[in-house]
Amino acid sequence: MSRVYNFAPGPAAMPLPALERASSELTEFGGAGMSVMEMSHRSKMYLEIFERVKARFNQLMGVPDGYTTLLLQGGATAQFSAAPLNLLGENDQAAYADSGNFAHGAITEARKYGKVVIAGDSSADKYTYIPAIDQTKLTGCKYLHITTNNTVYGTRWPQLPETVDDVPLVADMSSNILGEPYDVRRFGVIYAGAQKNIGPAGLTVVIVRDDLLGKARPSCPKVMNWKAQADSDSMLNTPPCYAIYLAGLCLDWLDAQGGVAGIDPVNAEKARMLYEAVDESGLFANPVKPSDRSRMNVVFTTGDPDKDESFRKEAARAGLVNLKGHRAVGGMRASIYNAMPVEGVAALVAFMRKFERG
Ligand SMILES: Cc1ncc(COP(=O)(O)O)c(C=O)c1O
Repeated sequence: MSRVYNFAPGPAAMPLPALERASSELTEFGGAGMSVMEMSHRSKMYLEIFERVKARFNQLMGVPDGYTTLLLQGGATAQFSAAPLNLLGENDQAAYADSGNFAHGAITEARKYGKVVIAGDSSADKYTYIPAIDQTKLTGCKYLHITTNNTVYGTRWPQLPETVDDVPLVADMSSNILGEPYDVRRFGVIYAGAQKNIGPAGLTVVIVRDDLLGKARPSCPKVMNWKAQADSDSMLNTPPCYAIYLAGLCLDWLDAQGGVAGIDPVNAEKARMLYEAVDESGLFANPVKPSDRSRMNVVFTTGDPDKDESFRKEAARAGLVNLKGHRAVGGMRASIYNAMPVEGVAALVAFMRKFERG
């Protein structure tokens, strides 16, 4: 077996022990005579898997009483629509921070369903920093939406914004959920596509404070209706059964690393190593305001598209793959989620230094 260091932004590297376990259970699970993929989602055996995965997620994330966790399909993109459909009446307004391309995508969807107030915006500066929130814009808003980590531009909110008048914080946490500690009590809603830090693509996790359930407008599609999904324990229709099972194996791996408290310093160290390599180099540069740098997606460039291309090609030959930056940014992006080991980052840093020496 030959595994590369995969710096993809998502779907992304998954922990090898989780993949090996899945491989050993692929054709037959737990004496059932069938794969998890072949089980009814309502069977006793599958329901046990489902409840165990949900409990593991809640434990790792520290989801307190008074919140409901949903395991859904549709990706974070479906939640761009679900958030306004569940929280806004037709004449209501919500505040959004425009901090990156997915944040912008969430705004575009929300505008279809209600009035959007932009409470912070770094688009004019190519999203190279996290915008300050103008508190005065929050009055009368049903929620404030932020994207805790901006996957494309490589920024992260260093502190969560304060809100006023109990305006709940709704967060797209797709690219740094479970990568660092968050106090769920600070949020009204958290949602995330699984394919970076939770497991494979296909699963979307939504955590909703219970008082925010039951406010959906009548036209909200029932699969997007958080209350309807909560009432049927996320089984209003067929859930992404196998993705949930695989996420469970990845979450067990995270638990064995000491959970979020255990992985947090490792992630901090990986990011420190990479930014140090970029900052010390005379070849590579990172455009992000230092205090707002992402710990999950490190963007860098030589400033010369041809040189960037040769860097990526040579890196791939050295087993360091998927380093291409998003088309909106160019250059390189190293996504270093939980499953990327320190050794992978050390190998990338060594390669960067070698490339620079020529
Ligand atoms: C922060 C963020 N939000 C939303 C999305 C879109 O997620 P999905 O493809 O699960 O709909 C992504 C995907 O990369 C993301 O990084």
